[in-house]
Amino acid sequence: MCGIVGYIGEEQAAPILLKGLEKLEYRGYDSAGVALYNGGHLQVAKAKGRLKVLSELIEGGQKTPGTLGIGHTRWATHGAPSDINSHPQVSDSGKFAVVHNGIIENYLPLKEHLIRRGVNFVSETDTEVVAQLLEYYYKGDVLDAVIQVLRHVEGSYALGVICQDYPDQLVAVRKDSPLIVGVGSGENYIASDVPAILERTRDIYRLNDQEIAVLCRGSVSFYNMDKEPVQKELCHVDWDVSAAEKGGYEHFMAKEIMEQPKVLRDTISPRLHNGRVVLDSVSLTREDLEKLRSIYIVACGSAYHVGVIAKYVLEKVVRIPVEVDIASEFRYMDPMVDEGTLVLVISQSGETADTLAALREAKRRGARTLSIVNVVGSSIANESDDVLYTWAGPEIAVATTKAYSAQLAVIYLLTIYMGDLLGTVGQEQYAAYVKDLMRLPDLVEEILQHKENVQYLASLFFNVKDVFFIGRNLDYAMSLEGSLKLKEISYIHSDAYAAGELKHGTISLVEDGTLVVALATQKALFEKMMSNVKEVKARGAVVLGLTTEGNKSIEQTADHVMYVPEICDIMLPSLAVVPLQLFAYYVSSMKGCDIDKPRNLAKSVTVE
Ligand code: G6P
Repeated sequence: MCGIVGYIGEEQAAPILLKGLEKLEYRGYDSAGVALYNGGHLQVAKAKGRLKVLSELIEGGQKTPGTLGIGHTRWATHGAPSDINSHPQVSDSGKFAVVHNGIIENYLPLKEHLIRRGVNFVSETDTEVVAQLLEYYYKGDVLDAVIQVLRHVEGSYALGVICQDYPDQLVAVRKDSPLIVGVGSGENYIASDVPAILERTRDIYRLNDQEIAVLCRGSVSFYNMDKEPVQKELCHVDWDVSAAEKGGYEHFMAKEIMEQPKVLRDTISPRLHNGRVVLDSVSLTREDLEKLRSIYIVACGSAYHVGVIAKYVLEKVVRIPVEVDIASEFRYMDPMVDEGTLVLVISQSGETADTLAALREAKRRGARTLSIVNVVGSSIANESDDVLYTWAGPEIAVATTKAYSAQLAVIYLLTIYMGDLLGTVGQEQYAAYVKDLMRLPDLVEEILQHKENVQYLASLFFNVKDVFFIGRNLDYAMSLEGSLKLKEISYIHSDAYAAGELKHGTISLVEDGTLVVALATQKALFEKMMSNVKEVKARGAVVLGLTTEGNKSIEQTADHVMYVPEICDIMLPSLAVVPLQLFAYYVSSMKGCDIDKPRNLAKSVTVE
């Protein structure tokens, strides 16, 4: 969601900015722009649409010289996507140019205040207020002006600022929206995310809320809101550059689906020692767990779906009541969490605005917090009591696949760990779970080897208008993810229902030819699911079943079937999700959709 890149160095900035923005395209955007310091003034170029429109406008950067610049991809919130509303936004006299991610919540009163003092606004954006305020407070020192502005704005922001009077300085600051500073030799960068600068440097600083970075060519300094210097620790990113490239695949999503066996190995193996689950980063003791009255799981999107699975799994194995909530609901619902609650936060990016706010709300109420996060050093990771990293590497496709799988694996590790501490998992069961965990990567690999079967099924159904995913228990939780994957990248209407709930309304939508994807991996509920399949078939549905290899009898009832290998019930979601991801991918590909960057969606939702 919006992308920022900034450069100060000896090379021409614009091509570097364009390249960096390209790497942030996955975040979702609808317009783009750059501002360069060019011989005593700031030159701005902006364009609605894809980056290539901007790139053509400035001839790959050739038309915008200068070795200091900021660039932005905008995902519209305040004001429609348009050239004028694109960033950078510039102050009235052209002295300041600003790129911004986030939302300035009090921009309207600030704007009215400035208009009354004769300032001219040209855009509908909240960001323009920042540029105008900078000029308003500027008395010759950019850092002072930035601090003044921050004292007046409310909301979330990552900001990159350049000033016409300062050819050697780029200022950046953030609050509740991600921003990193990259360090090179004689050159420095800012970016919303690591992939934007990974080709140029691996040494980064992660800015904390309201820390201001002042970048010059040969140095970076940090200040707090009182203009006192702040010392920060340099981090080295060890991601492989190729991890952020397509590596021969047509889409990032295909690559990321295929990476899942490796990701599962990377996430699981280092946490197994001599048949025991070792979670070094979790400080919860047996006494802590015994005091817990409940667990709340909070997340958004697919991470929330992992939470739904986790509820079934944790309650079954650990026997503690679990509530799972969508983060945007949790934060405003006066949640019943206190010292007796563990709040488990799940987030790939570690920056989702609602999830971060929910975490803060939980902490404010005294809850113990544990997060499952992919991006190391992200806000959610930093602010949680304990963190379990998923080690899935950078995920670029908007629709998550490998991060989802890694989150699930961490849920299993945590469940076994907690069950052992609390004594709800006996030694025999413990050993069986660990054995199955170790088999997961190979079994996922096996499913991927037969991906053409799913491709064939996709070819039968890519033209359908509506799809219903049904299942019971863990299969219901899986239905949620299967349905979301399909709708978000293929734009086919699809919904997920608990199969037992069908008769309470949804079945009235089933008619001749309606596609129903019936998930029936859970042995104990297989026959019940077959009854539901018969019910929808009797109303004309075409049924695509998904079950384990032992359940061949499904062929008597379903029209088509996708099989996954056998494993213990609680881990079946890790296998069942793979054909569902492949199905969504192939359907979307056959429909010619923009698989990695579906319309209106963003990878990391950093505004409410
Ligand atoms: C967006 C992404 C989803 C993701 C959700 C939560 O909607 O497209 O794939 O599940 O945000 O993101 P998070 O980074 O918190 O896991």
